[in-house]
Amino acid sequence: MQTKVVAAAVEPPSETETSVAVRGVKRGFRGARREPLLALAGVDLHVGANEVLGVVGPSGCGKSTLLELVAGLQEPDGGSVEVAGRSTAKARRELCAFMPQRDLLLPWRDALGNAALALECQGVPREEARSRAAPLLERFGLRGFEGARPAQLSGGMRQRVAFMRTLLPGRPVLLLDEPFASLDSITRASMQAWLADALAGEPRTVLLVTHDVEEALFLSDRVAVLSARPGRVMQELEVPLPRPRDRRAAVTDPELARLRERALEVLGS
Ligand SMILES: Nc1ncnc2c1ncn2[C@@H]1O[C@H](COP(=O)(O)OP(=O)(O)OP(=O)(O)O)[C@@H](O)[C@H]1O
Ligand SMILES: [Mg+2]
Repeated sequence: MQTKVVAAAVEPPSETETSVAVRGVKRGFRGARREPLLALAGVDLHVGANEVLGVVGPSGCGKSTLLELVAGLQEPDGGSVEVAGRSTAKARRELCAFMPQRDLLLPWRDALGNAALALECQGVPREEARSRAAPLLERFGLRGFEGARPAQLSGGMRQRVAFMRTLLPGRPVLLLDEPFASLDSITRASMQAWLADALAGEPRTVLLVTHDVEEALFLSDRVAVLSARPGRVMQELEVPLPRPRDRRAAVTDPELARLRERALEVLGS
């Protein structure tokens, strides 16, 4: 059975035809000794409406920076970023839901309060935000844990609360930064299957950053392989299987095995 990403109580995205266009994006910082440090060196990417683009690359190659640029939390030093044809940071922030690399749950809020947080930030009154978040807890397997603080939850549960918080505002573009990195392999596999199913039930435009090539190939329509810093796109791989995919079939699929080899080859070069 397919999982709805967002509860019926949540307003549907107002923008359905939502693509992301990253053109010639450069981004630099100052290093620890104030030396110039180029994180991204001319990145070109396009994600079609309701497409899932996986992004893999070595640590430090600029993946989180790329997501923050799309999310409107940073501006590029060169090139452009557009979401649904709109390039202002404000428009990007309004269209994107960003799940950062660490779950960043507030330790003093319970699970329901953390899930409801993004709605409250949008101006929804606290009690209404909590009652809109409540039906999702059951769907995410957290029934009975509404009142639990993050320290009382397992890693997988915390991740699901963070997911809920990301999904509840009903934004059309999801930016997921290593969403399963902190999970053990069994929880990770079940969360991947859950996400694949959820996106099939309620499609979104997704940029999925992961260091796990198999995860990227299992969940995405295309996978962009970035170089070591400064990051640029070295290869885009098209995954020719319909989503959602069956894990067992995916593990033994010869085409996926070939794509995996190719991605690892590019990463190793
Ligand atoms: N605010 C910042 N100030 C200075 N340097 C930064 C800043 N943000 C990122 N960097 C640097 O830019 C580079 C890219 O960082 P980023 O976090 O985007 O990499 P990443 O690919 O997400 O790495 P990881 O896989 O380890 O999460 C790194 O060298 C990092 O140190
Ligand atoms: Mg990162």
